[in-house]
Amino acid sequence: MTGTLKICGVTKQMAGKDVVSQLDLSVRAGELFVLVGESGSGKTTILRMIDRLIEPSAGQIRLDGKPIESFPVTELHRSIGYIFQQGTLFPTMTVYQNIALIPELKHWAATKIHERASTLMDAVSLPLSTYAGRYPHELSGGEQQRVGIVRALIADPKLILMDEPFSALDPIVRQELQTLLLRLHEELDSTVIFVTHDMQEALRLGDRIGVMRAGCLLQVDAPKVLRQHPANQFVASLFANQQQRGFGDIRSSELIKFALPTHEVLGETLNGNASINEVITSLDQHSRVFIEVSTGRYVVTQQVLIKWLCEFQQ
Ligand SMILES: Nc1ncnc2c1ncn2[C@@H]1O[C@H](COP(=O)(O)OP(=O)(O)O)[C@@H](O)[C@H]1O
Ligand SMILES: [Mg+2]
Repeated sequence: MTGTLKICGVTKQMAGKDVVSQLDLSVRAGELFVLVGESGSGKTTILRMIDRLIEPSAGQIRLDGKPIESFPVTELHRSIGYIFQQGTLFPTMTVYQNIALIPELKHWAATKIHERASTLMDAVSLPLSTYAGRYPHELSGGEQQRVGIVRALIADPKLILMDEPFSALDPIVRQELQTLLLRLHEELDSTVIFVTHDMQEALRLGDRIGVMRAGCLLQVDAPKVLRQHPANQFVASLFANQQQRGFGDIRSSELIKFALPTHEVLGETLNGNASINEVITSLDQHSRVFIEVSTGRYVVTQQVLIKWLCEFQQ
């Protein structure tokens, strides 16, 4: 399996209405694809159809070029990692039992399971020596989601479905886990479909973003294109809403308390009087920009912006 996914003309009717309507979407192997949309727009329904928890009313979903019905369901479930908003873990099993479950079903040797579990738990900063024997209720929300990520990744799935996995977490933990996901995604070659209702999260994570509304995909594009060329009024309004909250006119010097000072002189540089919007636009083109104020030069990255945003939105 390489993890390419193709959704062709998929409709799902529930209680007499189209919850997902004539959906066409291709997700490339190894891509981190984000589906963003307000609550009730059909995002979860799409993931459930991909995992064959429910069947489309019309259309077809293809994985690696083959209709998903052609895979035995158990094989499909073992090759797709699924992470929910909450409660991904089985409450009566320890952390180790939870993460070893799928590799055991795949008949991996115990030593191989332990080795892989240990590597991944280290990667999410939850060493097995401390966490293996704990039960889910003995973990914080953020720790539970980290274990959920390990459980979804351990058996090397080619496709990972993540349904608002960080929505219930506080902004700081959420941001840490976003960073963690970006790092893990770089190291692994899995395709990820990540669902969120939060445009900031979508822009931060997505290689490409699909905007959903009322069961339809309004636009599929890279974050930068989406921002610069919204396909219609609704997509534009997702960005306009951010500005209505007022940060468009705030000065970029507000960012420096989250940024590190530097002596570097080369690179895109903005004055402290520039607006946050100008910083956002610059960050579309550069991985980092410098902000110059009377006390010196500071390095601003997406991460700095997100930190500031998290505080601003509280
Ligand atoms: N089992 C069901 N029966 C009837 N309607 C449903 C069912 N599941 C979901 N829906 C409806 O489908 C729409 C999309 O739901 P969902 O995919 O969960 O949206 P999202 O994940 O974007 O919030 C909602 O209007 C929801 O009420
Ligand atoms: Mg949902």
